[in-house]
Amino acid sequence: MVPARPKVPAMNEMSPSRPNNLDSFWMPYSDNRYFKQNPRLLARAEGMSYFTPEGREILDGTAGLWCCNAGHGRREIVEAIQKQAAIMDFAPTFQLGHPIAFEAAARVAEMTPEGIDRVFFTNSGSESADTALKIALAYQKARGQSQRVRLIGRERGYHGVGFGGMSVGGIGGNRKQFGAMLPYVDHLPHTHDLQRNAFTRGMPAHGVEYADVLENLVALHGDTIAAVMVEPVAGSTGVLVPPVGYLNRLRELCDRHGILLIFDEVITGFGRLGTDFGAERLGVVPDIMTMAKGLTNAAVPMGAVATTNTVYDTVVNGSPAGIELFHGYTYSGHPLASAAAIATLALHREEDLPGRARAIEPYWQEAAHSLRSAPGVVDIRDCGLIAGIELAPREGKPGARAMDIFRKCFDDGVLVRVTGDIVALSPPLIIEKPHVDRLIGTLNDAIHAIH
Ligand SMILES: Cc1ncc(COP(=O)(O)O)c(C=O)c1O
Repeated sequence: MVPARPKVPAMNEMSPSRPNNLDSFWMPYSDNRYFKQNPRLLARAEGMSYFTPEGREILDGTAGLWCCNAGHGRREIVEAIQKQAAIMDFAPTFQLGHPIAFEAAARVAEMTPEGIDRVFFTNSGSESADTALKIALAYQKARGQSQRVRLIGRERGYHGVGFGGMSVGGIGGNRKQFGAMLPYVDHLPHTHDLQRNAFTRGMPAHGVEYADVLENLVALHGDTIAAVMVEPVAGSTGVLVPPVGYLNRLRELCDRHGILLIFDEVITGFGRLGTDFGAERLGVVPDIMTMAKGLTNAAVPMGAVATTNTVYDTVVNGSPAGIELFHGYTYSGHPLASAAAIATLALHREEDLPGRARAIEPYWQEAAHSLRSAPGVVDIRDCGLIAGIELAPREGKPGARAMDIFRKCFDDGVLVRVTGDIVALSPPLIIEKPHVDRLIGTLNDAIHAIH
């Protein structure tokens, strides 16, 4: 007998913004069974807000998923996409080109740190991570170091869901269903140190020595390490801000041992830390940086990997004539994504989004740290327009408390994000003080209401 389908709450069939049934879409990173019994739908977005199909406004405390940095529904981006769709929907970038992809790459290269001028397009942060790892391996081989096949990540790192990013990433939960990972991968320890650093504002004072573990890995693996990949500020595992001097130390050790340093700037790029990229705010320039999300304000999926000229020249000039890198995506440099990126980066400059983030950061920091006295809060961390509020878990039920807080906030008109028992906030960079007050006020009420 075919089991009965779970009951889906009645939907208004007259409204085009409401799906008629929730069965077909296998939702990513979701509790599908819970959601389909208790759907929370978003139908429209504008500025700092989402709207449900019923028209209820939800203040966006997470810029979607760390990506709509310029706020929602930006006319300039929408029009650029519409215009490009009418001119040329798609053209390949394998052995052919279209002008707008080259222009988008040039705009990205203008924004990246000096000397990081070569841009490879992908469609997501995950693809950017895997692309960066492949470029690092190709670079080492091209410079005659083909024994360098080992990739180093960090515990609690998140680099998306491809096999490269998942293997170099350091989140057990993301791996447990999928068997073997990439071989030749090792990890640095994470830098989360509640005992010494709880309630630090900005960069924690303690923990530079976690970077020194790279020396141990070099002692263990010799000259087989190709690259180290880290997020400048780790977001997905709950806002881990690097200790003072930590990234500088990693840079020094990579240089000393012939290892490439890759920054995953998927969330720290495009103004989130009050600068174009995290590299600038944190004062350390990597060899390769990955990006996505804010690149197009998330209006069309797009990611990118930017490399130093040295990396590009070594791979390209070091190869026999013909294709130099056997890697690429059908949609690399897609015309609509390229149009969205050009319009987004123009907005970024015209409205000085990093400057706006910097201007409101002190108010944001103060507001986030005001939650310190709320029940069960064990740490608060912040950097730029990011904040992480860590809660003591319910006994035997890790993550349950924060998930209930997420749901209560949504029902009270505010979108927050939770990971484990950490609430992570990353609003659009156009946020203003009354939004900050509402976001933190609603969260404070939810933390008080839910134990
Ligand atoms: C640092 C980092 N890298 C990679 C990714 C993966 O990006 P995507 O979901 O676009 O594949 C994310 C997503 O949140 C991220 O935060």
